[in-house]
Amino acid sequence: MGITGGIAAYKAVAVVRGFVLLGHEVQVVATEHALRFVGKPTLEAISRNIVHTDLYESVAEVRHVALGQNADLIVIAPATANSLAKLAAGLADDLLGNTVLASRAPVVVAPAMHTEMWDNPATVANMATISSRGVSVVGPASGQLTGSDSGLGRMAEPEDIVAFALRVHAASSAVSASSADLAGRKILITAGGTREPLDPVRFLGNRSSGKQGVALAVAAKSRGATVTLIAAHLEVPAPDGIAVINVGSAAEMLAAVESAQPHSDVLIMAAAVADFRPASVSESKIKKDSTGPSLTLELVANPDILVAAAQSARPGQVVIGFAAETADTEEALLTLGRAKMMRKGCDYLVLNRVGWSEGFATDGNTISVLDRAGHRVLDAEGSKLSVAHEILNLLS
Ligand code: PMT
Repeated sequence: MGITGGIAAYKAVAVVRGFVLLGHEVQVVATEHALRFVGKPTLEAISRNIVHTDLYESVAEVRHVALGQNADLIVIAPATANSLAKLAAGLADDLLGNTVLASRAPVVVAPAMHTEMWDNPATVANMATISSRGVSVVGPASGQLTGSDSGLGRMAEPEDIVAFALRVHAASSAVSASSADLAGRKILITAGGTREPLDPVRFLGNRSSGKQGVALAVAAKSRGATVTLIAAHLEVPAPDGIAVINVGSAAEMLAAVESAQPHSDVLIMAAAVADFRPASVSESKIKKDSTGPSLTLELVANPDILVAAAQSARPGQVVIGFAAETADTEEALLTLGRAKMMRKGCDYLVLNRVGWSEGFATDGNTISVLDRAGHRVLDAEGSKLSVAHEILNLLS
């Protein structure tokens, strides 16, 4: 358990206690700044272990490496803007940085800071970097901050952090039991949102960030697969060590899938593909004075890439589609999903409830998976990475 120097450090005591009461052994690594907010004796009493801070203590035990090597899970709560920047840069200038770098355990961060700091482009970029490396993120929540202000940036509640972290650990344990289980498999993944041009400067698009597709690529690569990612306007970096084919529109994605699918064993279509595109694309910027007070666009249907891929799949090749649905109830979601499965004809369909604040561009996801017959074969909830691993378990 890493604790960094923010006022929410006082709530980290409850996180430590939550793990301890559930029977887990907790080693606390508190930064010098964290100890300005919460006392070492409190953390030692609650964790029932000595608290580690100084890089130069117990050097004979090579503690800066041992703590990370021995950990099954690393939780950093609170994670300040500064600590997230250090994590993104891979800095090891204190014991916590060394511990994280020396560990292969899954890492969960619970960011806590003022809204302006969370929204700062530097923090946004740092979060994208660490998420693309597989770090799981819980929170922050919106609410009262330290001063009189309120907004996004409050650390997630201690019990939510504990529950989330244990789900991440459970998903990664299931994976590490079979860590190279996808070795030799060639997996083609689509991610992001297509854009349909209207004129040289405008397009019709959607809010897909590519996080779920990139998480699938990260997870598949970590399990030994050879991964190709067809990427449409990703807001997160693609992982190193995989082939990336950048596309813009649905037509470009179709062409990329058609050329790469024959060389793949598995196709996973996590991208949000535009169902329609403008019937004509203006060669020059559409001018307000030429259209008058309203503009009517004529749209034509795009080809359905998933349907075509499912129809042309060779025997043994697995095709997994996604279904993004706005449904009020679970029953309604399943009904929509089963109807979509009939239309798409793929091997599995990942049902994803979406809304203004669900599914698209979030760090977590809640999914159910249907097989060809419409049977529900999986329910999963957690970070997009842990959900990705659960989906990939269907292949092993
Ligand atoms: O990228 P994130 O911000 O992480 O968000 C993830 C996600 C919500 C985009 C992702 O989890 C998801 O649900 N992706 C599918 C989005 C979508 O287009 O759903 P759909 O129900 O409209 O399409 C169903 C399936 O058909 C999808 O696999 C889609 O890729 C495919 N499709 C759709 C239209 C089309 N013309 N061709 C297609 O192949």
